[in-house]
Amino acid sequence: MFVLGIETTCDETAAAVVERQDNGRGRILSNVVLSQVNEHAAFGGVVPEIAARAHVEMLDFIIAQAMAEARKKFTELDGIAAAAGPGLIGGVIVGLTTAKAIALVNETPLIAVNHLEAHALTARLTDGTPFPYCLFLASGGHTQIVAVLGVGEYVRLGSTVDDAIGEAFDKTAKLLGLGYPGGPQVEKEATSGDPQRFALPRPMAGKPNADFSLSGLKTALRLEAEKIAPISDEDVRDLCASFQQAVVDVIADRLRTGTRLFRERFGKPTALVAAGGVAANQSVRKTLQRIAFEAGTTLVVPPGELCTDNGAMIAWAGAERLALGLTDTLDTPPHARWPLSDVTARKPAAPEPAWPERSEP
Ligand code: KG4
Ligand code: ZN
Repeated sequence: MFVLGIETTCDETAAAVVERQDNGRGRILSNVVLSQVNEHAAFGGVVPEIAARAHVEMLDFIIAQAMAEARKKFTELDGIAAAAGPGLIGGVIVGLTTAKAIALVNETPLIAVNHLEAHALTARLTDGTPFPYCLFLASGGHTQIVAVLGVGEYVRLGSTVDDAIGEAFDKTAKLLGLGYPGGPQVEKEATSGDPQRFALPRPMAGKPNADFSLSGLKTALRLEAEKIAPISDEDVRDLCASFQQAVVDVIADRLRTGTRLFRERFGKPTALVAAGGVAANQSVRKTLQRIAFEAGTTLVVPPGELCTDNGAMIAWAGAERLALGLTDTLDTPPHARWPLSDVTARKPAAPEPAWPERSEP
């Protein structure tokens, strides 16, 4: 089956066409991503209203390009999938409404995909990873350890109680006057810095649950920077290296606990799967490799362009749901908040008849 996927929950306008073969394997026919990073850079972060307007302006062209590269017509598609949340509501409305229009005109099933579910299932598109696996999702908006047991079967083992890891990288970059998005800049500075110079905390380390907390680390970094102000280029490199080391230590500690909780409840995972922009960080990747080895499993990290937001992951999640007969009606609402734990594989109840049926006399 062939599915179009549309992603507009944050600052990427993206569309893709993906094939799901009968044996459950996937193939990407096109994957077009337009980043709005230049529109938001001057503000040091994503401005929701600017994002929504940019999606409106560009989405039609991005979809047309994805269809052309895949050499498909709308009538040849088996499903139209859009991220229906969680995310910035203006953008979500743009993507979901566009998908509904295409589905309605072509009489094709609509699949309203949860953006986090799409990240969670990407490893099945790229590596055919079988269930159950342990997912570490770390992006600008989310930080979670999730037991992925099946399509629509997700158990959250841990999550952040305050900032997401990517957000902490972005805020650190902003504080130190580096560009946006901050993760890649902080990583670049950190490569030639001293990770031991500043004694930063490792929040939550040793806690029996698998939750994260990042805001204390960010505050500690700010206080260290204020103590030595004005800061030199070398100070920036050392601050970035010390921050990244602290984050990596926290990830290792929390994932050790997370994989242990997984094993206690669900047995051995088939893999440790990483998703989200933070998985692009080389130090983070090395740590994940070590944790997977210690947990007696393998690490699966989809290629960078499929770790960050994209349309292929939405199309694939749509295809996985469509294969199970899980489609959505045209009155499906967009969601700003939509926890993964609320996603199920239950078919929606049949709508009530508009008029009660008259019983025969
Ligand atoms: O998954 P993603 O593209 O978008 C969502 O937030 O959904 O993730 C973007 C986040 C940003 O916070 C960015 O700073 C972070 O991932 N990131 C990184 C790196 N590349 C991207 N963080 C650390 N090191 C990196 N190399
Ligand atoms: Zn994302």
